[in-house]
Amino acid sequence: MDRIRIVGGKQLNGIIPISGAKNAALPLMIASLLTKDTLTLENLPRLADVAMLVRILGNHGVDYMVDGRRPGEAPNSGRTVHLTAKEIVDTTAPYELVSKMRASFWVIAPLLARMGVAKVSLPGGCAIGTRPVDLHLQGLKELGAEIEIEGGYVLAKAPKGGLHGAHIVFPKVSVGATHNVLLAAALAKGETVIENAAREPEIGDVADCLVKMGAKIDGIGTSVLRIQGRDRLEGAVHTVLPDRIETGTFAFAVAATGGDVTLDGAKAVHLKNALDVLAQTGAKVEEVANGIRVYRNGGAIEPVSVETQPFPGFPTDLQAQLMALLTRAAGTSVIRETIFENRFMHVQELARLGADIHLHGDTATIKGVKVLKGAPVMATDLRASVSLVIAGLMAEGVTTINRVYHLDRGFEQLEQKLSRCGAGIERISTG
Ligand code: UD1
Repeated sequence: MDRIRIVGGKQLNGIIPISGAKNAALPLMIASLLTKDTLTLENLPRLADVAMLVRILGNHGVDYMVDGRRPGEAPNSGRTVHLTAKEIVDTTAPYELVSKMRASFWVIAPLLARMGVAKVSLPGGCAIGTRPVDLHLQGLKELGAEIEIEGGYVLAKAPKGGLHGAHIVFPKVSVGATHNVLLAAALAKGETVIENAAREPEIGDVADCLVKMGAKIDGIGTSVLRIQGRDRLEGAVHTVLPDRIETGTFAFAVAATGGDVTLDGAKAVHLKNALDVLAQTGAKVEEVANGIRVYRNGGAIEPVSVETQPFPGFPTDLQAQLMALLTRAAGTSVIRETIFENRFMHVQELARLGADIHLHGDTATIKGVKVLKGAPVMATDLRASVSLVIAGLMAEGVTTINRVYHLDRGFEQLEQKLSRCGAGIERISTG
């Protein structure tokens, strides 16, 4: 198992290219199941989760082709891939595959909409909380599906004549449930309205792609989506939007270490709230022509109080990274996690570096310390692991992060991107 070794205390200076967003890439790839034609996705990040989804889609019969690198193209620029689900050969998504990646549960929507049946394993437990799928199932039922749960699988069947439009009001904002209903509604008969839809930019990206494939969708970017389903959808070419969580992660890293970095290709409008919080901590944030510039040269890290919220609020996926930054603030900060009940596993690991964090229910109180000291730590989930990288970059001495496969799920070339900006970071392969 690989480890990451960090020698802390170095500033970050330079340019970091931002990759395509994992959380858009996955549902976009799943959208390929909706059509017999080819869906071409540009700027697809090289991530373990993407590779896993390729395997899962392959199991359903999706043909996958990757373009070679064009002359002059940077080695880390996103790939162009072609996904063709000419024939769906299997409507079952087995436990062995779905349990490895929660988002693969979302294949249920296109399988059901196109084939009339789907058997998809329940995703099961997850390190950051229970993460139920009741809202996904509510939405599919309202589109006419019969749903049964048997032996850990969801068995879904469309009514005679296929799924039909419906007026769905979600009692709670869910990214996954919104994706699921959006995908299914694109092939359902008539109009579907989703109220209290998630507004994350990745939902908008998937909706834009579905429009290119022939669906009619109004209200993109708002909490009310209106979808006119089609009998069939066509192929399309779509570019995956930049990863706002990767952007925020590097922005917080620069604020943590000091330095001056341009996040190339980043879109400030996708993470306005997080950038505002970053500015409150004393870092300077500027929108520039090609992305976002973040710098902090001396000056204290100011404490802040933040609550995670669905978009456009402060993203739960940046909570751990913000906490790492605040461990060295000149004062006491408070972070309340309102989305996932158990998303504080990084706290114990940050404490190993000397952080002073007190947990009470959904609230963490972070008392800034003068120094962090390097130590061996353990990655527990994707975003928590990267918070340990940020802490390691700030700490004196050597930090070793074990179980880095969590990082590979969602960060493309993390060590390369950071070391090119001066960080003392390397991967140690032990396998
Ligand atoms: C997605 C993101 C993840 C992010 C999360 C919240 C992807 C691949 N993953 O996850 O990175 O942290 O959004 O921004 O895009 N819930 C229910 N019932 C349901 C579904 C969800 O109660 O049927 C609850 C969840 O337990 C959680 C909250 O709703 O408390 C939000 O979850 P949701 O937005 O669905 O997250 P995911 O789509 O799983």
